[in-house]
Parts: sequence; structure tokens; C-alpha cells
Amino acid sequence: MIVAAEREAAVTRLDARAAELQASIAAVDARIADLARHQLSPLTIGERAVAPGELARRVVEASTRHGWLTDALDPISQAIPAFSVADIAALRDARIALGADLAYLGVAFPDAAVLPDEAALLALHHDLVRDRIQPDHRARQVGGVDHAMTVTAFASVSLDPQRVLFCAEKVARFHDAVLDAGLWAVSVLDEDSEKIARWLATRGRPLDGQLAGIAHHPGPQTGAPVLDEALGVIECRTTAVHDGGDHSIVVGEVIGVAEPRPGGRPLIHYGGRYRTVTGD
Ligand SMILES: Cc1cc2nc3c(=O)[nH]c(=O)nc-3n(C[C@H](O)[C@H](O)[C@H](O)COP(=O)(O)O)c2cc1C
Repeated sequence: MIVAAEREAAVTRLDARAAELQASIAAVDARIADLARHQLSPLTIGERAVAPGELARRVVEASTRHGWLTDALDPISQAIPAFSVADIAALRDARIALGADLAYLGVAFPDAAVLPDEAALLALHHDLVRDRIQPDHRARQVGGVDHAMTVTAFASVSLDPQRVLFCAEKVARFHDAVLDAGLWAVSVLDEDSEKIARWLATRGRPLDGQLAGIAHHPGPQTGAPVLDEALGVIECRTTAVHDGGDHSIVVGEVIGVAEPRPGGRPLIHYGGRYRTVTGD
């Protein structure tokens, strides 16, 4: 009796197990059918639907064409992202923060210790300014000499921008020289400079060496000759030349002013005589 009951229970268990296995097999069958359907459905490439069989044929046909690719394709490792989303966001922020400086990425900057110090840079700057001025200065010379001329027709024109003018007689040798140069300097003479004023107003004086014996130096902005004893110096670049009859009216932008020399009194020409200003 007991044996028969045990056998019956075993048969029942085996029936249940067989039913389970049949269900599993049915599930596997359904999964295989799904995969097959998926694998055999046409794939859309670009605008076109292509059958998987066709794709497989193309891959096989093209396999020899890509034989030179030595690296083995490993789709799984290739698919592993090299950066996390947080990494990418941080990189993007860093890139935005760098902005135009990104161009310097990878550039080797010199060691700050080997850069020239402030004094050396200043000296270099002065050298460059002087070199820039000297060619203008030479260009302004006719026959290798500096030009200068006594002028009373000088006036202020504008404060902003700062402009002044002087009138140059068209027949004066200074006229063409100053227009050619485009750069010039006005030295305000003091009461002791009458001799210089007379000399630089002498028509036909030799141009060569006309400033010999008169202490002068090139103006720092223009290179034009500037008298050492001048009461004040204004350096200019010509901005306009107007016809003024037998004179040209030369207007210049002020590009440099020397500190006025204190204590001196100006030389003026009034009533056919050189004079100075007296009293307060
Ligand atoms: C007091 C005085 C003021 C003068 N002012 C001017 C002037 O404003 N403009 C000018 O063209 N000539 C003026 N002249 C004449 C020139 O200085 C003079 O013609 C000079 O010799 C011309 O020089 P250059 O031909 O050698 O360049 C003045 C002369 C004197 C004595």
C-alpha cells in the first residue's frame, strides 16, 4: 500500500516537472521566434529598408576590401564609454571657462624667471620708439640737414583734439620740407634767443649746419629738432594743410608737449623789434 502511494506521488511530481519543462521550452521557442523575427526584419539604412540577408551578403563581399584594418573589432569594449556623463559635463564647463584661451592649450610658456624685467622692457620700448622716429627724422632732412625757421604766425586751434597751426610761406625752403615730413616741433624762444630768431629768419642762410652752435636735440615724439633752451616745446603731426594765399596754413595734432621751462620770459616780435613781456 505504502509503495503504491509513493509511486503515485512520484508520478505526480514528474508530471508537474514535465509540465514546467514544456512551459520553459515554449518560452524559449517564443524568444527564438522573436529573435528570428527581429534578425530577419529589414533594417532602415539612410532612407532605405535593407533585408538582413542582403546586409550579410554585402559584409561578406566587402570583407576583403577592409583586410588592411589590423585592429580586431571588439564591439563590446568599443561601446564602453570612456567618460561618464559627469566627466563630459565637467569637460564642457572647463572648455567654456577657457574660452579663447583654449588656443594656448599645449603651448609651452617660458619660465617667468627668464623673461626680461620691467627696466629691460622699458629700455627696449625706448629703443623701438627711437628707431621708429629716426627714419622719419632722416626723411625730413634735405641734403642731410635739419630744417628750422623763425615763425610768428603760430596759433592754437582746438583743445579737443589738441591742434595748433602755423603759416609757412610757400617759397620758404622750410615749407616743402615740413609738408614732406608730416612731423614737426615748435620751440618757444626765450628773451635771450634773439640771435637764434634772427638767424633762422635769414633768407638764403646755408641749410647745412644751420643749427650748428645752437643746442638742440630730436624731439622724443617726432624726431624734429627741438631747442634745448626752449621755454616750451610742442610736437605735432600734420592733419591738414590749407591754402592761405602765398602761405600755407599747416594744422597739426599735438602729439607731445615738453614741460615749460620755469622762470624764462618769451621772445616776442612787435613793432619791427624783438622784445619780451615784462610785468605781471
Ligand atoms: C619775426 C619774424 C617772423 C616770421 N614769421 C614767419 C611766419 O610766420 N611764417 C613764415 O613762413 N615765415 C616767417 N618769417 C620769415 C622766415 O623766417 C624766413 O623767410 C626764413 O628765412 C625762411 O626760411 P627758409 O627759406 O630757409 O626755409 C618770419 C620772419 C621774422 C623775422
